Amino acid sequence: MTVVGAGNVGATCAQVLAQRDYADVVLVDIKENLPQGKALDIDQMGAVLGFEPNVVGSNGYEDSAGSSVVVITAGLPRSPGMTRDDLVTTNEKIVKSVTEQVVGVSPDAILIVVSNPLDAMCHVAKNVSKWPKERVFGMAGILDTARFSTFIAWETGASVKDVIAMVLGGHGDQMVPVVSATTVGGVPLTKLAAKDRIASMVERTRKGGGELVNLLGTSAWYAPGAAAAQMVDAICLDEKRVLPCTAYLEGEYGIDGLYMGVPVKLGAAGIEQIVELDLTDEEHGWLDESTAAVRDVVGVLTT
Ligand code: LAC
Repeated sequence: MTVVGAGNVGATCAQVLAQRDYADVVLVDIKENLPQGKALDIDQMGAVLGFEPNVVGSNGYEDSAGSSVVVITAGLPRSPGMTRDDLVTTNEKIVKSVTEQVVGVSPDAILIVVSNPLDAMCHVAKNVSKWPKERVFGMAGILDTARFSTFIAWETGASVKDVIAMVLGGHGDQMVPVVSATTVGGVPLTKLAAKDRIASMVERTRKGGGELVNLLGTSAWYAPGAAAAQMVDAICLDEKRVLPCTAYLEGEYGIDGLYMGVPVKLGAAGIEQIVELDLTDEEHGWLDESTAAVRDVVGVLTT
């Protein structure tokens, strides 16, 4: 499999996948020596931690030919004060060019888009590749849900392993943490935390990416890289995991012709099913706002 972009997110994704020890990884980046250096470092990490898939760095796409899964992380990250949407024009060009090259060498791959603004970049990848929606989708919901789950574990004092949460919608500040579908050890979150505490966890989740940008001066990478790797696992190992991913909707959730975060079943064929949750009226209202925000950004695209 291939990871395009050897920046923080791409390299973390490659590292997590290498540690899983089931697939060779090609790390592609236009920056001379960067993917080669990071790949070599990850290979040598394997000698310490005891994993040995082959990680190869490259400035071109020949080594990645015939990949079954390609993760696209290429593009500018956010700087403080920037929204994800501010990146749209620059990253559209980058994602378009990357997609064209991936299509040329790996015509049967599944594409996982990670570049921001995520929902819009999924449209670019789909429009350029002309591949079916089952094979072109994005990573955002696993990351946003991981943030929500972390806050819930801290608030309730429970293990994060026992938190089942779900964040839907676009990957922007209007995303929808679905409180009605969130449980800790099977108990609804609404029984475990006061309304105002839940509201503040929802708000912190929605602004979760910005909180990291303010702390780090650039976008986060550990959780985003791991989240993309989890999607690769589900596909390569045909796990049939139900995970929130950015999928092309054609009527599901009342949304048509737009990429949005929803729970999907992920397996060897890519998106094998879109799962429709019952939402409360308030959650539906939030999803409408998120849909409008994503449509605005998609409207700026020229691809
Ligand atoms: C974030 C960026 C990567 O949410 O979108 O951290």
